[in-house]
Amino acid sequence: MNHTVLTGDRPTGALHLGHYFGTLANRVALQDTYPMYVLIADYQVITDRDLPGEIQRNITDLLLDYLAIGLDPAKVTIFQHSAIPELNQLLLPFLSLVTVAELQRNPTVKDEIAHSSQAAVSGLMFTYPVHQAADILFCKGTLVPVGKDQLPHVEVTRLVARRFNDRYAPVFPVPDAMMGERPVLKGLDGDKMSKSRGNAIMLKATPDETAALIRKARTDSERLITFDEANRPEVANLLTLAGLCLGRAPESLADEIGYGGAVALKHLVTDAVNDFLAPIRKRREQVDERDARQVLREGNDRARARAVQTLEEVRAAMGF
Ligand code: TRP
Repeated sequence: MNHTVLTGDRPTGALHLGHYFGTLANRVALQDTYPMYVLIADYQVITDRDLPGEIQRNITDLLLDYLAIGLDPAKVTIFQHSAIPELNQLLLPFLSLVTVAELQRNPTVKDEIAHSSQAAVSGLMFTYPVHQAADILFCKGTLVPVGKDQLPHVEVTRLVARRFNDRYAPVFPVPDAMMGERPVLKGLDGDKMSKSRGNAIMLKATPDETAALIRKARTDSERLITFDEANRPEVANLLTLAGLCLGRAPESLADEIGYGGAVALKHLVTDAVNDFLAPIRKRREQVDERDARQVLREGNDRARARAVQTLEEVRAAMGF
């Protein structure tokens, strides 16, 4: 099958190891096999907050993370919403293909509304999943590597593609989501890993910052280290993290530590994470921000050319 891969992130800050093992590793692997687009979803930042914030800083951080993990700009088109008017223009016909009721029952949107700090819910909150359909369909994406929370949005995209094809002409492939089979990493305090909770190891963290974070990680007082997700979630999470970094089963790491307790466990995790991040840190040192910005400009040009073609097809199919 000849796939086109599309995925993306909201530029709300730098990325951490949870992102890496959840989706970024997957992208690095896929870039050798399929044409791939990676979207910096800058217009999506204003779905759950009023202002885009430090948008340029966050876009640059995201770009540097992409290049540091080894996304190759020769293979991957990295681009941003705000540079592709023709992508954004697809939103209008696509909105005509979905009902208000369908928009209102999207479980991810409901969850975001429940957790939003905004006083009122904007129209964009309900319609951004349709914009996401434009993200995926502008390049006729067929494979969308995402986490579980994004599945409802891929469903919206499939609906939009099918309805457009039925109503007008067969322009779009119906894409599939691709879920990583990796275990979900929690933060070092056992909560969801998130930059804002201070429990995440950022890809750009120095070896010392990494060591300090792991030193503070929550564990328990039992000396014998075992991999027991139900009863010892914090210890299990650290073993999972080290296992992912080392490409080893967490159970075998637990056996190796034996009665070494939390101290030995944290030593092992710190070394595993720092060794794992070493090549990523090295690559990051080799790119400067100006080069990264140039990569984005070139990606935007390529993506825009693709969007122009697709919008032409859409307009022709609709008789405009
Ligand atoms: N909604 C995604 C997120 O919050 C980001 C995103 C925007 C995306 N457009 C996309 C992901 C298209 C996959 C495909 O992380």
